[in-house]
Amino acid sequence: MKMLVAQKTLLLLCVGVSLAQDSNTAEKLKNIEERLRVTEETLEELKKENQGTFTAPVNGVYFFRFYVHAHTPNQMAVSLHKNDQLQCSVYSLKPESNANGSNGVVLSLQKGDEVYTQLWENSWVFDDGNSYTSFSGFLLFPV
Ligand SMILES: *[C@@H]1O[C@H](CO)[C@@H](O)[C@H](O)[C@H]1NC(C)=O
Repeated sequence: MKMLVAQKTLLLLCVGVSLAQDSNTAEKLKNIEERLRVTEETLEELKKENQGTFTAPVNGVYFFRFYVHAHTPNQMAVSLHKNDQLQCSVYSLKPESNANGSNGVVLSLQKGDEVYTQLWENSWVFDDGNSYTSFSGFLLFPV
């Protein structure tokens, strides 16, 4: 572990020395800045994904599916959307004790298209550590 830290420090020192000696330092710093900006954009995308929105990274045909679990007496209703357009839903007005629903769709997406699930008004789903409720997507093939 200590060895690893020492190696990293050495590497950083080497990078520092080579940057200082290079006449194109400004250019290199600009490149580093650009790379940091791209990394920040990637982070923003990942944060969005954590909020439940999938943003297509490439043009392609994708398969999406979701599964929801809910308890009485709450209405269970969820739809999957591509950008602003509803694609498919699950619905249970008043589950006797609990309910499960699942749906899925194959979508042709352009890079940047957004796919997400959304609760209807006054609707609930249930989840705990057992992960009954899930949403996932798969790139079938790029186009
Ligand atoms: C819904 O799924 C849960 C977990 O698998 C199960 O315990 C329950 O019986 C299911 N409910 C119905 C109404 O099928």
